Amino acid sequence: MKTLFIKGQNNKTSVLIGNSLNELTNYLTANTIIITDSKVNSLYSHYFNNYKIIEIGIGEKNKTLKTVIYIYEKLLEFEADKTTFLLGFGGGIVCDITGFVATTFMRGVRFGFVATTLLSQVDASIGGKNGVNFNGFKNIVGTINQPEFVICDPSTLKTLQSKEISNGFAEIIKHALIADFEMFKILQLNSKKALKLDTIIIESLIYQSIKIKSRIVNIDEFENHERKKLNFGHTFGHAIEKVYKFSHGQAVSYGIAIASKLSYKKGYITIDEYNSIISLLKLYKLPVKYNFDFNLLLESIINDKKREQDSISFILLKKIGEAHIEKISINELSLLIKE
Ligand SMILES: NC(=O)c1ccc[n+]([C@@H]2O[C@H](COP(=O)([O-])OP(=O)(O)OC[C@H]3O[C@@H](n4cnc5c(N)ncnc54)[C@H](O)[C@@H]3O)[C@@H](O)[C@H]2O)c1
Ligand SMILES: [Zn+2]
Repeated sequence: MKTLFIKGQNNKTSVLIGNSLNELTNYLTANTIIITDSKVNSLYSHYFNNYKIIEIGIGEKNKTLKTVIYIYEKLLEFEADKTTFLLGFGGGIVCDITGFVATTFMRGVRFGFVATTLLSQVDASIGGKNGVNFNGFKNIVGTINQPEFVICDPSTLKTLQSKEISNGFAEIIKHALIADFEMFKILQLNSKKALKLDTIIIESLIYQSIKIKSRIVNIDEFENHERKKLNFGHTFGHAIEKVYKFSHGQAVSYGIAIASKLSYKKGYITIDEYNSIISLLKLYKLPVKYNFDFNLLLESIINDKKREQDSISFILLKKIGEAHIEKISINELSLLIKE
């Protein structure tokens, strides 16, 4: 088992990567309450049967303040107090909601995660961003607060559907593209093993991914500059997720394809680099092409609350393994995309 650390303003996280789920009880206090979703509960409750459990529904439609209120009510019913420890056991949705509830309930209680999807292990559980969607805006209500620990045990990935595994690879590929050319090559050479969750390959890719994200979060927890690079593929990704209701990982894959195309059009990466990115996404069974209505996507980007007046911080690639933050006006983006 390997450990990585994240040091936030309020908390320090130990991220445990490897076969660590059997030791879960060592990390929990007697007054732990589990937050999980119905599917994970049915598959993994043997790990947390001894604790009180709050179960939420499946899917992005449940990532709402309504679910948060439901959890607050259950916490009161369970007589939770300042000494309660909340454990989010599940994918990105469970982690994002648990982090938000733990940060706001009684002005903050201790919390940790067992991340059970590939996407949550390599991305959503890492870095302390939490929250819910509101009025059609993704993650618009939330906080940044680091959990005490994150357990990433690859054995939980075996019960995932293959589409969910591909979704996780969208964020792994993103990490390689923005920060690590060697990892890009490893991804190219080992796609079959990686998709089959070969223990050595998958564990090292999870470790490498978290290493990249945690290094960035340690530099810039509150996303003033460096952390923006992690949004590579997400400007269009979020718009696609919102307008076309694709899952996060699938939408990010399209978003990576579009941002890579723009990096090529702006003269940063070569056509060969662009083609190798598209081939890699396809190798991992991720979608790259769809007949999008770009006017609708641009409209969604313009309405996005993260825009800064008439421009956005767009993440481009200077080369494979190096990201670059560029302020692009909505006008320029619109011209580039319609070209
Ligand atoms: N906070 C962040 O920094 C951050 C980063 C990336 C993504 N996110 C968020 O993460 C969410 C997506 O996360 P996700 O892809 O994990 O989705 P998810 O939590 O919906 O999980 C996907 C599906 O897999 C099921 N599942 C979970 N673990 C399983 C297992 N071990 N075996 C079988 N099935 C299992 C779930 O029940 C669900 O149906 C989005 O809401 C996105 O906004 C947050
Ligand atoms: Zn993402």
